[in-house]
Amino acid sequence: MTAPVKELIRAKRDGRALTADELRAIALGIGDGTVTDAQAAAFAMAVFFRGLDERELPAFTLAMRDSGTVLDWSGLDRPVLDKHSTGGVGDKVSLILAPILAACGAAVPMISGRGLGHTGGTLDKLEAIPGYDTRPDPASLRAVVERAGCAIVGQTGELAPADGRLYAIRDATGSVESIPLIVSSILSKKLAAGLQGLVLDVKHGSGAFMAALDDARALARALVGVGNAAGLATTALLTDMDRVLGRTAGNALEVRESIEALTDPDGADARLVEVTLALARAALALGGLDGADPEAALRGGAAAERFGAMVAALGGPADLVEHPGRHLRAAPVVRAVEAGRDGVVVAHATRDLGLVVTELGGNRHTEADAIDHAVGLDAIAGPGDRVGPGGRPLAVVHARDEAGADAAAAAVRAAITVGDSAPPAPPVVTEEVR
Ligand code: URA
Repeated sequence: MTAPVKELIRAKRDGRALTADELRAIALGIGDGTVTDAQAAAFAMAVFFRGLDERELPAFTLAMRDSGTVLDWSGLDRPVLDKHSTGGVGDKVSLILAPILAACGAAVPMISGRGLGHTGGTLDKLEAIPGYDTRPDPASLRAVVERAGCAIVGQTGELAPADGRLYAIRDATGSVESIPLIVSSILSKKLAAGLQGLVLDVKHGSGAFMAALDDARALARALVGVGNAAGLATTALLTDMDRVLGRTAGNALEVRESIEALTDPDGADARLVEVTLALARAALALGGLDGADPEAALRGGAAAERFGAMVAALGGPADLVEHPGRHLRAAPVVRAVEAGRDGVVVAHATRDLGLVVTELGGNRHTEADAIDHAVGLDAIAGPGDRVGPGGRPLAVVHARDEAGADAAAAAVRAAITVGDSAPPAPPVVTEEVR
């Protein structure tokens, strides 16, 4: 028997370390509803100010995992691997990476989330595909993973339910930005997915959730430390989000860019391909598949074939890879945004470009908002690209109406700086944290 939750909150408020049993009582109580919203909010705020030490954090993370079902992949003859990104603008890596890993011999049950604010969500991108079922039951999920090698789906209420509730309470009460709460939130879900290896893409820069490199590094170290302590082989790459990743931002547009990268990697954005392959190598090493060649899986078409198999197995069109234009909805207004002068792109205000997509209706301000999968930005000129009136535009806006296109065009012009020369491009993979 542990002390009443109220006493545990007081203890954490006063800076006392809680025992594993005490943390378990709180996590399970959040999951089953016996801890009230007020108590969960107060506990989160106490952790925000007092933290969780190196013994408390793995214990709380495992207890959050145990608030629901843990997926069991026994019987699969492949290592079960996944990737998690802290999110960014134009981050469509999951759509390319999951089928690459599958083609290299891994099983990839990728449980993904929705977008909020300026960062897009993988689930929203997949929901742009007509018929694609993002909520298969556990038996269907297993069948798709067995058949296609990968399945990118949404989180069900059974996986780490304590996190679903605590995250919503943190969001409403100002305690999202806490490393121990972020770490336990992310890893409880990944541990519940029954993985053997996890690679984390921790982004930094103007479009990232943690903009400063030092903060991103601290988050990556905490995630890697707790993941490994909890028995999940984990590594992280710190990657650049100081510019939009790839050339599109917006759901259907990003699905199309992902299919293009899978079918014609030489024509794809080089940074998108580079970061995807770096994450693939790191994940494959965790699964003991160091000998596999992710680049060959991409260039030889095996990854595109895995992607098509996944889409078809989850109810989407069988010919999506061959004919994306037949299935992905197009926005009614498509307009090029011209630069005000000749020059080269110097920088992106990346977060602001993400917010352009949100204002167009392609992402949410609050969790309850509906979104328009067709809108967004395409042909986004990156730093170093030459632009000018009558020449290459800054971007192409896809909007629901003329007024939306006007507002988006003005915001794109404000968010992309044009000058005489661009600074050298920083590497897309900044460092690895093991
Ligand atoms: N993503 C999560 O899943 N949880 C957090 O706390 C922050 C980002």
